[in-house]
Amino acid sequence: MRIYDLILKKRNGGTLDRDEIDYFINGYVDGSIPDYQAAAMCMAIYFRGMDDYETAALTDCMARSGEMIDLSDFKDLTVDKHSTGGVGDKTTLIVTPIVAALGGKVAKMSGRGLGHTGGTADKLEAIPGMKINMERQDFLNQVKKIGIAVIGQSGNLTPADKKLYALRDVTATVDSIPLITSSVMSKKIAAGSHSIVLDVKAGSGAFMKTPADARVLAQNMVAIGKACGRKVSALITDMNRPLGYAIGNTLEVVEAVELLRGDIKGDLYDVCVAIATEMTMLFKGVSYTKAMEEVIRAIDSGAAFSKMKEWVSTQGGDVEWLENVKIGDGAAFEVPIICPADGYITAMNTEAIGSAAVILGAGRNKKDDVIDYSAGITVCAKTGDKVEKGCVLGYLYTNDYKAAEPAAERYLDALTIGFEPPEQTKLIYDIIR
Ligand code: URA
Repeated sequence: MRIYDLILKKRNGGTLDRDEIDYFINGYVDGSIPDYQAAAMCMAIYFRGMDDYETAALTDCMARSGEMIDLSDFKDLTVDKHSTGGVGDKTTLIVTPIVAALGGKVAKMSGRGLGHTGGTADKLEAIPGMKINMERQDFLNQVKKIGIAVIGQSGNLTPADKKLYALRDVTATVDSIPLITSSVMSKKIAAGSHSIVLDVKAGSGAFMKTPADARVLAQNMVAIGKACGRKVSALITDMNRPLGYAIGNTLEVVEAVELLRGDIKGDLYDVCVAIATEMTMLFKGVSYTKAMEEVIRAIDSGAAFSKMKEWVSTQGGDVEWLENVKIGDGAAFEVPIICPADGYITAMNTEAIGSAAVILGAGRNKKDDVIDYSAGITVCAKTGDKVEKGCVLGYLYTNDYKAAEPAAERYLDALTIGFEPPEQTKLIYDIIR
């Protein structure tokens, strides 16, 4: 077999068989296929697409390119979730303890934030003492003992995705449905959980800008996950505005704690209940109504917050800090963002709002940038809200006073203020099962 012939076949619209896909992935991982030929293959896939059979084979070959975690000891109680990334998305901090409190086994690997989106690994590290690196056996023992362990992406999991994602990032081949599907699903399959709930974001802060594009991606990922023998469902949720009110690591931990204490409702609560309900339906095999009742009870009874504290303390985190942390802790400066005009907020460019938080120190532009956990933004007015000139639209938190002015400018540029209230859009567009 020659990689040249496979690139030519795909470029001309042919269908690759399993052996050919295997040859491409193995050759790229072992270095016998160079970057320039892998890039040509990605571009051929980008333009020609892949059918379901090819995408399933690509996903499976990528999943098998490295270590596969064996969670079979936990039978079919293991349940994972994945978000395609957004601004203010702290759902993992909330739904994983809910599901663990209900008897699910959550053995989860989470990524760091990059660019305008945050990452769960960073949010967890904002909790003093919290360790997100663990030996594999300790990770599995913790899941067995308390039902939940969440760590950073580690070990030799899906090396094919690590190489291919970095290549796609610099060759304009990221936004291809088969390539995104195989990238996300190979990681989830290798991580071993029996049930997987995907939160596919749609909107100005997401990869997929429209619900229609998000639906195609969601349908593809659900089909591929099922073809790989997993139970999968996907929610399509709105990212035309930040989720919840807090953006930035410590701030998002505060909001997660408030929600689990039963102190806040609203968009974040609705999305978390929807995700946790799907996860519970899958791992327990119960109806939607029953799963939702159990999820709400886990929050209202305090069981989910108790599970969060147990999880944090088991991973070395400071539970007293968790119980007492407040908005603004650790940030030397709190700067209000002042509204420049009367009217309604008619649109929010959520990606720009995420990048305003990065300016304050809450995220990274490059992989090795150091982040300030206390930096970020609290949002006081969102799309649809009536605002007045001089009112406070939000607060910036930072330890770098010079960053406040450019961050406020970026935030204000991200808002559109008009005379008429905008049409209400949905928070949860659809659920694909
Ligand atoms: N997230 C991933 O993990 N992979 C992609 O290709 C896109 C988003």
